[in-house]
Amino acid sequence: MFLENCEVTANINIAGNMFLMKLKGDKSISKTKPGQFFMIQPKNGRFFLRRPISIHYVDENKNELEFYYEIKGHGTNDLACVKEKDIINVQGPLGNGFDTHIKGKNVMVVGGGMGIAPMKYLIEDLIKKENRVTFIAGGRNKAALEVLSNMSLEGVTLYLTTDDGSKGSKGRVDGKLKELVKNNTYDVIFTCGPEKMMESVANIAHENDIECQVSLEARMACGVKACVGCSIKTKVGMRKVCHDGPVFDSKIIVDMNPEEKTETCCGN
Ligand code: FES
Repeated sequence: MFLENCEVTANINIAGNMFLMKLKGDKSISKTKPGQFFMIQPKNGRFFLRRPISIHYVDENKNELEFYYEIKGHGTNDLACVKEKDIINVQGPLGNGFDTHIKGKNVMVVGGGMGIAPMKYLIEDLIKKENRVTFIAGGRNKAALEVLSNMSLEGVTLYLTTDDGSKGSKGRVDGKLKELVKNNTYDVIFTCGPEKMMESVANIAHENDIECQVSLEARMACGVKACVGCSIKTKVGMRKVCHDGPVFDSKIIVDMNPEEKTETCCGN
């Protein structure tokens, strides 16, 4: 974990309240894994508490860290006001990301809403390891899927769903997943998104005896296991989302929505 002052190279409004921020990184670039997050402090922000934002992508060629986030509160609103060439301080990478030590497997990735955020880096990692990746991306509407234009999905079997049918098929990601598992075999499912969605994805995984890794959201004050803000009860005892997670094996999770959330590692 590093503390770095990073120059902002872009902070673009993707759609609605959703932004993509790119930062020039240094030491953290080579250490960051898919599913991890950073605690970000906007320069001159009104709020001193850092905000946990999950890593969207690491561009090793450009030495850039990418973060896809949504304005949900004052902290992320301050972040959206940051301009190109501003310097902001980041702390990370933090937490336990997705376990991608697999090769040549049939892999399912399910991202809903802001839960698409960690999937860009995850998918690239899985493809590099010669896995066959199916990606179901869903959102409320077409705008919620705009971020996909920032993702290279070459070699990925892609399915899109929206609640209102404005892009892809009308419906939800779990409906599409149910349909696909009937006729296909998947070795592992990776998922991030709203808790009800992840609950449903995990249930489908359990019913079909598929390993499932879920990326949880929780209230985070310190991000470095120094408080108790993110403790959750699991089937194997208490765990801290910022340190033991945010990614967990779904089989040990008691409740996908351990707390009422404020700002979380998906930028919510
Ligand atoms: Fe403080 Fe996890 S956020 S212990």
